[in-house]
Amino acid sequence: MTNRFEGRRIAVTGAAGGIGRAICESLVAQGAQVHGLDRTGLDGLPDGVAGASIDLLSEESVVSAVRDLYAADDCPVELVNCAGVVEDDVPAEEMPMAQFDLVMGVNLRGVFLTCREFGRELLARGGGAIVNIASMSGNAIVNHPQRQSVYNSSKAAVSALGRSLAVEWGPRGVRVNTVSPGYVDTPLNALKTQMHEQWKRETVLGRFAAPVEIARAVEYFLSEDSAFCCGAELLIDGGFALR
Ligand SMILES: NC(=O)c1ccc[n+]([C@@H]2O[C@H](COP(=O)([O-])OP(=O)(O)OC[C@H]3O[C@@H](n4cnc5c(N)ncnc54)[C@H](O)[C@@H]3O)[C@@H](O)[C@H]2O)c1
Repeated sequence: MTNRFEGRRIAVTGAAGGIGRAICESLVAQGAQVHGLDRTGLDGLPDGVAGASIDLLSEESVVSAVRDLYAADDCPVELVNCAGVVEDDVPAEEMPMAQFDLVMGVNLRGVFLTCREFGRELLARGGGAIVNIASMSGNAIVNHPQRQSVYNSSKAAVSALGRSLAVEWGPRGVRVNTVSPGYVDTPLNALKTQMHEQWKRETVLGRFAAPVEIARAVEYFLSEDSAFCCGAELLIDGGFALR
């Protein structure tokens, strides 16, 4: 591994989850100072990752997490928004609004809030990179057989938010880009084991992604290799959307 992220401070939300953990592990291995943010599971973060508690449903929690990061050290903190939740196979006509509010609250409001708070500080310090994790569910496909209308809508909004922030902030040095995975082997899918074989069958490459395969794309958008990417979205779905 090279030290290509040496001297960079990067916060990762959802750090205790399947993809977030892989992103943290890989960034630390490449020399970054990584702040793993999550509302739970901070004890199990990879070695070298500094954990801090955050609840994306609370504006106060997000504001104070960012304030604490800068109180400890004034260097810019870049951002990977990886936290997310999905409803369990719920028909739209029966969707409880509490589920709607939870999924939209974490996936859209939470991502907006972290972008606003981290973005403001990056703008004030000359720039940096923000990478949001959306999903193939946002624009490329509608998942099946499970019904997850709110999740799909929230992810379409994350993609639109990334493009919108890229236009507002790109000229001032903050690059915002989006990674949209297909099915990845993580706890997010753990409750839907009966669907796994069908999902794999319908994926051209015939398998789930490993979390590290999503981390590689995040690294690309964080690195100078993607210096001309502004509001881009990379679909990494093993060909699922082609079928
Ligand atoms: N796994 C997949 O197949 C897949 C596919 C496409 C997109 N994604 C997206 O990738 C991202 C990561 O997914 P994953 O598979 O690693 O999921 P995961 O369930 O393993 O991890 C999600 C993390 O988000 C955290 N989180 C949830 N609510 C939070 C809150 N209110 N405040 C702070 N943290 C909170 C959880 O504690 C958890 O650690 C999500 O945005 C997800 O929608 C996943």
